[in-house]
Amino acid sequence: MKLYAKDLQNYLNKEVIFAGWVHSKRILGKIAFIILRDKTGFLQATFKKDILKEKFHKVKHIQNESVVKVMGTIQEKVGGGYEILVKDFSIINESEPLPIEIWNPDIKTQFIKRIQYRPLDLRRPETLTIFKIRNSVIQYFREYLLNKGFIESQTPKIVLMGAESGADVFKVDYFRKTAYLAQSPQLYKQMLMASGIDQYFEFGWYWRAEKSHTSRHLTEFYGLDVEMAWINDHYDILDFVGDMLKYVLKRISKSNKESLDLLGLHIDIPKSIPRISLKEAYKILGQLGKKLKYGSDLDSESERLLGKYFMEEYNEPIVFITNYPWSERPFYHMRLEEDPFWTKSFDIFYKGLEISTGAQREHRFEVLLKQAKEKNVPLEPLKYYLETFKYGMPPHGGFGLGIDRFVKQLLDLKDIREAVLWFRDPEHLSP
Ligand code: 4AD
Ligand code: MG
Repeated sequence: MKLYAKDLQNYLNKEVIFAGWVHSKRILGKIAFIILRDKTGFLQATFKKDILKEKFHKVKHIQNESVVKVMGTIQEKVGGGYEILVKDFSIINESEPLPIEIWNPDIKTQFIKRIQYRPLDLRRPETLTIFKIRNSVIQYFREYLLNKGFIESQTPKIVLMGAESGADVFKVDYFRKTAYLAQSPQLYKQMLMASGIDQYFEFGWYWRAEKSHTSRHLTEFYGLDVEMAWINDHYDILDFVGDMLKYVLKRISKSNKESLDLLGLHIDIPKSIPRISLKEAYKILGQLGKKLKYGSDLDSESERLLGKYFMEEYNEPIVFITNYPWSERPFYHMRLEEDPFWTKSFDIFYKGLEISTGAQREHRFEVLLKQAKEKNVPLEPLKYYLETFKYGMPPHGGFGLGIDRFVKQLLDLKDIREAVLWFRDPEHLSP
């Protein structure tokens, strides 16, 4: 295992081998100082001509960002940090001058240029931190769900039907049959509700062939899907999600403090998440001067306005909006008994952006079939899904939550592309 800079205090006055990137270099006649760097910190390597003899001249030619291995004794440096007095060294991989500036804070490289050299960009702590936090986000969601007894597994991603809507699917040539990349695990996770895996979750890829050019849309994104059976209604799901979101945000704010400090961020923890119906949202929007047609979905401006309103008035970063119109929802959402114009559905907004959609699902076979027909969903690819509803399907519901969007909002990133290592949008298939 590599010796990392953060562990150097355990090796004081000991002889070690240390490898890292050349961060900077200073040569003063018969002595040279190279600051070596790894992801955890720095080590000053001191090269002396009287120790290294003929090899000393090689130090001059080492380029910044090359990978170098040094051997020597670790000493404490005056003024803090550690130093290694080099007895021997080798240049393991020489670097050419970097195509982008990564260390000069005065030079801001455009994101689109940085992404072309993502590994170099990820040598910067500011970029690396985003992915450390993303990693924690996934860990904490998983931790919460596993502790609640949910089972995690995986469902097919090459499918006969996209799952969410007919359009916006990527076609796959599957041994001369036409298949698609899954738009979501929706149909499979619902089928599991008729099994012993009746509290289910998965992390997985979603693909949507949407030609959107916005700061919140990708064609390939990562999501958390949760489905649970034996619910009374969609409010049961919201109680569950609310507790989960509070848990995850608290956990990040506590356990990732160092990373948050580096980004200069403070996390607002929801206290009592506001829960309003879409009808009530229309009213609030009306007061804010935004008129929406009765029965229409929220547009992105409305999402932003509502997010701002609940932050300013109630200091709440998350909002639940419930009961969307049937006309705007997929066939599998359950409609309200008292007024079937609306569905038992919800969207979750975090700082004014939708991060999740969910609902109680229609579990009565006949009603589900009728709804699928009403929405003109092709029934043939739905065959096995629909069948499942004939043999004892408990009431159930769940949600899908976009991880990239969650991270974007959590860290106040300008663009969702900053939250993924290598993004896919209509223009980018590479790198
Ligand atoms: O809102 P969506 O389309 O809902 C579903 O897929 C349902 N099956 C969920 C359910 O269980 N009823 O997608 C879920 C979430 C969105 O709320 C959003 O966070 C994210 O996925 N999302 C996207 N993220 C990035 N780029 C896109 N193009 C996205 N489309 C949706
Ligand atoms: Mg949605």
